[in-house]
Amino acid sequence: MSEKPVDSLSEAEAASELARLAEEIAGHDLRYHAEDAPTISDADYDALRRRNLAIEQRFPQLVREDSPSRSVGAAVSEKFGKVTHVVPMLSLDNAFADEDVSEFVGRIRRFLRLGANEPVVITAEPKIDGLSLSIRYENGRLVTAATRGDGQVGENVTANARTIADIPNVLKGDFPDVVEVRGEVYMSHADFAELNRRNEKAGKPIFANPRNAAAGSLRQLDTSITASRPLRFFAYAWGEVSEMPADTQMGMVDAFRSYGFKTNPLMKVFDSVEGLLSQYRMIEANRATLGYDIDGVVYKVDRLDLQQRLGFVSRSPRWAIAHKFPAEKATTLLTGIDIQVGRTGSLTPVARLQPVTVGGVVVTNATLHNEDYIKGIGNSGQPIREGRDIRVGDTVIVQRAGDVIPQILDVIMEKRPADAQPYLFPTRCPACDSHAVREEGEVVRRCTGGLICPAQAVERLRHFVSRNAFDIEGLGEKQIEFFFQSQDPALHVGSPADIFTLKRRQEASLTKLENIDGFGATSARKLFAAIDDRRQVEFSRFLFALGIRHIGETNAKRLARHYINFDAFRAAGTAAVMPEGKGDKGNAAWQELTGVNGIGGIVAEAVVEFFAEEHNRQVLDALLAEVTPLDEERIGDVSSPVSGKTVVFTGSLEKMSRDEAKAMAEKLGAKVAGSVSKKTDLVVAGPGAGSKLKLASELGIEVIDEDGWFALVKAG
Ligand code: IVH
Repeated sequence: MSEKPVDSLSEAEAASELARLAEEIAGHDLRYHAEDAPTISDADYDALRRRNLAIEQRFPQLVREDSPSRSVGAAVSEKFGKVTHVVPMLSLDNAFADEDVSEFVGRIRRFLRLGANEPVVITAEPKIDGLSLSIRYENGRLVTAATRGDGQVGENVTANARTIADIPNVLKGDFPDVVEVRGEVYMSHADFAELNRRNEKAGKPIFANPRNAAAGSLRQLDTSITASRPLRFFAYAWGEVSEMPADTQMGMVDAFRSYGFKTNPLMKVFDSVEGLLSQYRMIEANRATLGYDIDGVVYKVDRLDLQQRLGFVSRSPRWAIAHKFPAEKATTLLTGIDIQVGRTGSLTPVARLQPVTVGGVVVTNATLHNEDYIKGIGNSGQPIREGRDIRVGDTVIVQRAGDVIPQILDVIMEKRPADAQPYLFPTRCPACDSHAVREEGEVVRRCTGGLICPAQAVERLRHFVSRNAFDIEGLGEKQIEFFFQSQDPALHVGSPADIFTLKRRQEASLTKLENIDGFGATSARKLFAAIDDRRQVEFSRFLFALGIRHIGETNAKRLARHYINFDAFRAAGTAAVMPEGKGDKGNAAWQELTGVNGIGGIVAEAVVEFFAEEHNRQVLDALLAEVTPLDEERIGDVSSPVSGKTVVFTGSLEKMSRDEAKAMAEKLGAKVAGSVSKKTDLVVAGPGAGSKLKLASELGIEVIDEDGWFALVKAG
C-alpha cells in the first residue's frame, strides 16, 4: 500500500500524479462544497493536498493551472449562489522551456497525423493574472455571470459583473441567441496602487497583489463596493454557444470584440514554433510596460475543428498550453521545521519561514521534501546545493513558481548563525511514537506503527466506510474511532473484515453492543442490518474502499468498467509485471492495465504493488470471505453503435493517429484492446494489418477499415 516517495518520482511520473491529484481533489472539493456530501475524511483530504504540494515543491515547473494549491479559498463560498457550468471551465497545462513548446506542437501534429508540410496555425496571447469569469447572454442580454469555482460549479456574481465597465450588459451587433463569453477579470497596476492608497488612508486592509484585489472586489456581497473598484475584463474563451459565429479561435475573439468586449491586442497567429517563441519573448520583454499582471503566454490551436478532434486530457485541452514566465525568488529566515505524518506513515518536514513577499504573495511555509533534502542530498544520493544542509536559523532562498507555496532553493552560508545546529530528523513518529525508519533505497522515513499508528489505521478504516466506499449507515468516523480504540476482542475493529465479523463476535461473547453507551438495542440492530446490507457491494466501491494508492473514485470506476469482475481485476493486478528499463513494455497483463482509459504507469504500479504485498492479500482475503463485489454493469453511459463493445485497431491508420482512434472509441463508450481475442467485437484494420487481422477472421470477428469506422460512428 506504499505510495511512491515524492523524492523518487521521475518528472513524468510527477506530472501525471499532479494531474491525478488535481482531479481527485477537485472531485472532493465539489462534493464537499457544492453537494455538501464529502466522501473523504478531512485528514485524508489534507494528506492528498500535502502530497500534491510536496510534488509541486520538488517540481515547481510542473505546477498546474488547476492545481489544488492554487485554488485554496477558491472553493465556492456559501455566501453566493451556485452556478453549474454547462461547459466546464477547464485549466491549461504548463510549458516552461522552449522545448516544452516544441513538444506541445509536435504532440498536436502527431495526434492529428499532419504531414511534414502541413502547417498548424496556433494563436499566442498574454496569460492574464486575474480570475476567470463566465458571462451568459440570452438574446443579447446578460443573464448570469459566474466565477470558475472548481471548474464545474462557480459562484453567482451576476450583480457584481454588471458593474464592470468592460462587460456589456447588452451585446452589440450580430450575436447568437445564447452565448457564454469567458475571460479574465483583472485590475491594472495603477488602479491597484490607487486602491491600496485609499484603503491605507481609510485604515482598511491592503491587498497583496492586483489579482487578490480583483478577486476580493468581484466577490463582494455589496455590489456598490464592486462598482467602486476599477475592475477590467478581457474576453478570450467561451462556454455554451447556440450558433458559432466563427470557426477559428481568432474569429471567435473578433466576434467577441464586435459584441462590445475588450480583447487583448497582443493576440496573434503563427504557423511555427519559432513564431510562437518570438511572440513569447516579445511579450516577456514588454511585460513591465503592459500596466497589468501577466504570468505567461497562452498558445491555442486556431482551427476549432482541430480543437474538437484534439479534445481533452483530464481537465486540460490538448489544443492549448500556458507558457509560463520563470519563477520569482526571495530570501528569508527559516524559523523552524515541523513534521507531518501522512496516511501511509510518511514523515514530511515542513519549513516555517519568517513571512516574506515573493512575487506579490506572502509566504510563510514550504515543504522540505524529506530528510535528505535537508541534508543537501538529492534523489540518487548525489549532493544538491553543493552539499549545503539546511538549518533552523538559516537565511534561505525561497522560490515561488506560479502562484503556489514555494520551495527552498538554497542557503546563504555567510548568514548562518555561528551556533546553528544540523537538523536532526526524528526517528520516532510524532503521532504514535513508533520507530520511524527508512528502508533501503527509500528517501522517505516512515512510521512503523502501521495499524497501531492512529494517524494511519483509523484513516484507512474511515476511508473504507466513507460515503463513496462502503457507506455503512450508522458507521461513521466516530463509531470507527470507538471500535478501533476498543480493547474488547468482541468489539475491536482493526481491519475492514472485522466490521463484518462484529455481529458474530458479539453473539459468541458476553459483550453486547446494545449495552454500550451510545448504542442501545435499536441502533445496534440497525447497525448490524446495515453491515449485512453491504455484504454485496459494487465492484467500483469495493475497489475504492481498499484505499490503494492513486485509486480514487474515478480510477476505481475506470478499472471496474474495464475488468467488469473483481476476480478478473485481481488476476490482472497479480499477473502484471512492470517493465524494467527502456525498451521493456511489461507483459500482456501490464499492457492491458496501462491500456485502460485514464490509467497510467503510476496507478498501474500501485495496483501491482498492492497485490504483491502479503499483508494486503491477507486483509483482502479476509474481507472477501465476508463480502462479495458485484460485477460492474457492462455498458457505459454513452449510447453509440460501439458502446460497450471491445474494439481493436490494427495496421496503419491514415486518417487519424492511434491515440486519436483510441480516444474517439472510448468517448463513444467502446473499450479499446491491444490484442484480438474471443472477447473482441470489432477490428478496425488499416493497410499492412497482419496477425491480428488473421486471428480476427479465424475467430469470425467483424472487420472494417478506417472508412467503415467513420461511417459506423457517424451513423450513431
Ligand atoms: S484559455 C480551456 N486564455 O488561465 C482553457 N486562459 O489555466 C481556457 N487565463 O482559468 C482558458 N489568460 O483564468 C486562457 N488568454 C488566456 C488566459 C487564460 C488567463 C487563465 C484563466 C484560466 C487559466 C487556465
